[in-house]
Amino acid sequence: MKIRNTILYILFFALTLVACKSNERKSEANKEMDAFVSALMTKMTIGEKIGQLNLLAGYEDIVTGEARSSAIGSKIADGQVGAILNVRSPEKIRELQRIAVEETRLGIPLIFGLDVIHGYRTTFPIPLALAASFDTAMVRRAARIAAVEATADGICWSFSPMVDLSRDPRWGRIAESAGEDPVLGAYMAQAYVKGYQDNDLKRNNTMMACVKHFALYGASEAGRDYNTVDMSRVRMYNEYFLPYKAGIEAGAGSVMTAFNEVDGIPASGNRWLFTEVLRNEWGFDGFVVTDYTAINEMIEHGVGDLQQVSAMALKAGVDLDMVGEGFLTTLQKSLDEGLVSEDDINHACRRVLEAKYKLGLFDDPYLYINAERAEKEIFTPENNAFARQSAASTFVLLKNDNNLLPLPKKGRIALVGPLANNRLHMAGTWSVAVNHDESVTVLEGFKSLTDGQAEIRYAKGANITDDPALDLNTAVRGKPGIDTSRTPEQLRKEAVELARWSDVVVAVVGEAAEMTGESASRTDLGLPGSQRQLLEALLATGKPVVMVLFTGRPLAIEWESRHIPAILNVWFGGTQAGNAVADAVFGYANPSGKLPATFPRNVGQIPVYYNHKNTGRPLEQGKWFQKFRSNYLDVPNEPLYPFGFGLSYTTFAYGEPKASKTKLNGDEKLTVSINITNTGSRAGEEVVQLYLRDVVASITRPVKELKAFKKVMLQPGESQEVSFTITTEMLSFYNYKLDYAWEPGEFQVMLGGSSDQVKSLTVEWLKP
Ligand code: BGC
Repeated sequence: MKIRNTILYILFFALTLVACKSNERKSEANKEMDAFVSALMTKMTIGEKIGQLNLLAGYEDIVTGEARSSAIGSKIADGQVGAILNVRSPEKIRELQRIAVEETRLGIPLIFGLDVIHGYRTTFPIPLALAASFDTAMVRRAARIAAVEATADGICWSFSPMVDLSRDPRWGRIAESAGEDPVLGAYMAQAYVKGYQDNDLKRNNTMMACVKHFALYGASEAGRDYNTVDMSRVRMYNEYFLPYKAGIEAGAGSVMTAFNEVDGIPASGNRWLFTEVLRNEWGFDGFVVTDYTAINEMIEHGVGDLQQVSAMALKAGVDLDMVGEGFLTTLQKSLDEGLVSEDDINHACRRVLEAKYKLGLFDDPYLYINAERAEKEIFTPENNAFARQSAASTFVLLKNDNNLLPLPKKGRIALVGPLANNRLHMAGTWSVAVNHDESVTVLEGFKSLTDGQAEIRYAKGANITDDPALDLNTAVRGKPGIDTSRTPEQLRKEAVELARWSDVVVAVVGEAAEMTGESASRTDLGLPGSQRQLLEALLATGKPVVMVLFTGRPLAIEWESRHIPAILNVWFGGTQAGNAVADAVFGYANPSGKLPATFPRNVGQIPVYYNHKNTGRPLEQGKWFQKFRSNYLDVPNEPLYPFGFGLSYTTFAYGEPKASKTKLNGDEKLTVSINITNTGSRAGEEVVQLYLRDVVASITRPVKELKAFKKVMLQPGESQEVSFTITTEMLSFYNYKLDYAWEPGEFQVMLGGSSDQVKSLTVEWLKP
C-alpha cells in the first residue's frame, strides 16, 4: 500500500511539474506575443488600427451575403484592411498578401478566411451527417484533412465549426449544425476545433477555427432564417450555450456573432454576450468577428444608425467587421465624439494582431500558400478513401423490413430518382471548395461496385421539384434542375417501365442540396410532390422498393415510412457520396449512424425533441390522446423517428444495466455498465447512449439528457460490457440564480441504443 501511494505521489508530482512547465512555456510565449504586438501598436496610427478591424470579401464567385466589397487592392495598400474572406485562388491570395506586406507602411500581413465547413476539395458529409456518426475521432480527422487541404491553398482561418443547437428542421441551417443535443453538439464542436487547429496554430497545415454563430442562431422563431430569438437564460446556459463553450474550451481562436437578437439586443452589439459571458465567464482570449454585414443589419433591427451600431458592436467586444465597413467608416468619428474610446479600438486591434501572431503570419506571411503541398496534399486518393468510409458511417437506416437491405450483387436493379445520377447535389450545402465534376454519383457508385455482376439501369423518374420557383431558389450555382426535355408524366412512365423490368427498385429521392443551408427555410417538410408521385407509381408495380434519402434536415416522411419497406437516410455525403451509398446498399458498409435530430411526423409537431421538459399534465406512456393532458387531437406526441435512433444490418441485444453503487455521497464516482451482444449475422457498430434524469430539482429538468456515448464494433455473436463513469459534473446544471451546481436526490440512469429505447436504474446521490 505504502509503495503504491509513493508511486502515485511521484506520478502526481511529475504531472504537476509537466503542467507547470507547459503553462510557463505558454506564458513565456504570451509575453513574447504581448511585447511584439505592443511594439507594433506604438507605431500604428488610429487609422491603421481601425484598418485592422476591417474584413473584406474577395472578388470570386463565392457569395455568402448580399453585399460585395470593392476596390480591395487599393484599400489594402491604404492600410484599411485586416483580413479577407472568400478568395480561393492561391495566386490571388499571394498577390493580396504581397500588397499588404510590401505596399503598406507597416507591412502587416492579412488573414485569409473561408467557409471550410465540411471538408475542402475533398468534401465530407454535411455537419448534421457527421454528427450522426457519433464518432468524434472520425470528425476530428475529417477536420484535420480539411485544414491540410485548405492551408495549402492559402486559407488560414475557417468559419467553422457552426455549433448552433437547433430543434427546428424548418431552419435550413440545421444542416450545418450537430442537431438538437447540447452534449453531442459539444463533442462535435471540440472535434472540429482540435482537427483544424491541432493544438499548434503556427504550423503551415493548421488553421484557426471560428465557433459560430454566437449566440442562439439555431433558435430563430418558426425556423425562418435570421428571425427573432427569445429564450430564458436558464435554457441558454443549460442547453444552447454548451457547444459554444466546448469549442472555446478546445481552444478555438475566434468566434463569430449571430444575425439574431438575444434579449432584445442584436447579437452583434450585445455586450453581455461577448464581454460578460464569452470573455469574462468563459475566459475566451481570441477575437470576435461579426457575421456578414451583421453590424449594418443592426440598423434594420432598429437600434441606431451606422455610426451608433458600429460603436455599439465595438463596445460589445466585437473586433472584426465582416464586409459592412461600419468600423472603417465611422469609428474615427465616434472616437472624436466620445462614443468609443481609444482603448476600445486598441483592444480590438490587439486581438486581431494577436491572431496574426498566433498563426505565424508575422514570421512568414506566405506560410499558408504552398503550391508543392497543394499538388501533393489536396484531393488525394487517401483523403477520398477516408471521405468514402466516413460518409458510410453517417448513414442512418430508418427502416428495413424483412432485411430487404443489403441487396445482393445480382439480378436486375432499377436505379431511379432525381438524385440517382446528379453530381451537383452530392456534396451538399456550404461546399465552397468542391469541384462538382469530381463528385461520384450513386449511379457511378453502383456500377463500379457491382462491376457487371448485377444489371443496373437508370431512369430519372421525376424532377426534384416541379415547382419552378422552388427549383430556381434552390439551384446549385444558378443551374435550374427541372428537365424541360420531358414532361413529369413521361419521366415517371420511364421509371415505371424500368421498375417492371427489375427485380428490385432503388429510389434515390430527397432534397436538393440547396434546400438546406443559409436562407433555405421550408414550411413543408415532406418530399416534393413530384417525388411522392414517383414513389406511389413505383410501389404500384408491386416490386420491392428501397428508398435512399438525400436530405439536409429531418423530413416529415410519415407516408414513406408507412409504405416503403426499406429507408436509408444518407444526408449529403460529400464528394464520395455515390460510392458510399453503393457500399451501404450492397452491404460493404453496415450503416451505424444515429439521428442527431428528431424526425417529426408533421410540421405541426415542431419543435419536437427528446430532451424536453415534462408538463404538469403529461400523457401516459403508450397513449395517443387523453382529455386534459398535453397532447394533440390528430397526431401522437411521439415523433416519427427519435433522436439517437438508427438500425443496423445486424441486431444488438442489451442486457440489464448495472451500477457500481446505488447510494452515493458527495464527489464519488458511479460506474454504470451494460452488456451488449451482436445477435445478428454481420459485424456492426452500435452507439451506446447514456442518458440521465434528475428526478426532483429546484428547477424543472428535462425528462432525459444525453451525457455520454460510445460507439462499439461487435462481430456476430460477440458481447461487450460497455461502461460509463458518471461524475457529479454530469449531474450539475445552472439553477434559477444561474449558479452551477448539482443537487442531491434521486437520479435515473438510462442506457440504450436510442433515446426512446433505454433500460434504466435509479441511484440516490446525496451531499456528504
Ligand atoms: C454566414 C456565415 C458565414 C459567412 C461568411 C454568412 O452569411 O452566416 O456562417 O461564415 O457568411 O461566408
